[in-house]
Amino acid sequence: MSVGRLAVLVSGRGSNLQALIDAIGQGDLEAEIVTVISDRGDALGLVRAEKVGIPTRVFPWRGDAHREDYFEDISEAVCEAQADLIILAGFMRVLSPNIVQRFPHRIINIHPSLLPAFPGLRAQRQALKYGVKFAGCTVHFVDEGVDSGPILVQKVVPVYPDDTEKALEERILIQEHIALPEAIRLVLEGKWEIQGRRVV
Ligand code: GRF
Repeated sequence: MSVGRLAVLVSGRGSNLQALIDAIGQGDLEAEIVTVISDRGDALGLVRAEKVGIPTRVFPWRGDAHREDYFEDISEAVCEAQADLIILAGFMRVLSPNIVQRFPHRIINIHPSLLPAFPGLRAQRQALKYGVKFAGCTVHFVDEGVDSGPILVQKVVPVYPDDTEKALEERILIQEHIALPEAIRLVLEGKWEIQGRRVV
């Protein structure tokens, strides 16, 4: 892969999507975002994509009972867009096994903790509550678990005694915007292999 074709999935604000748009615009990431897909029609990420002319699609969530079919439809949309990689940039749904199996090591997620600590929702709150002195973000390949696939890039930030959830979230987010393009660049360069759980 050289100029990677990315399908970016978002549910909300889309600041990580924006970081990718900016990295590509600045020539820091040789890639093209070929589609932005959301489970929510009101996701700000869609506005960010439309602003720069990226085609968008909305697949409203249809409930847990339809998870397989839902992700079948998203898989089709990814194939139609001829995307090489699927980037979960704040996409708030747990993928079904069918899409994970269809795109092995081609789905990447960003999570606001130093995994395997604090998977799942509100990772920053979990970190504060636990009392860790360092937090951060992780970019990883997606497997069939939740926030559990092989790790590509991690960035660390300090946690201060008087931190609020919001302050910690903002500190981590700055690192997310660096980590995500970095991880995608690594994957697209293709000079990696998986050894057990390790991406080498
Ligand atoms: C980020 O913290 C990301 O790590 C998590 O959801 C948040 C999305 O933020 N998965 P944004 O929509 O990219 O601004």
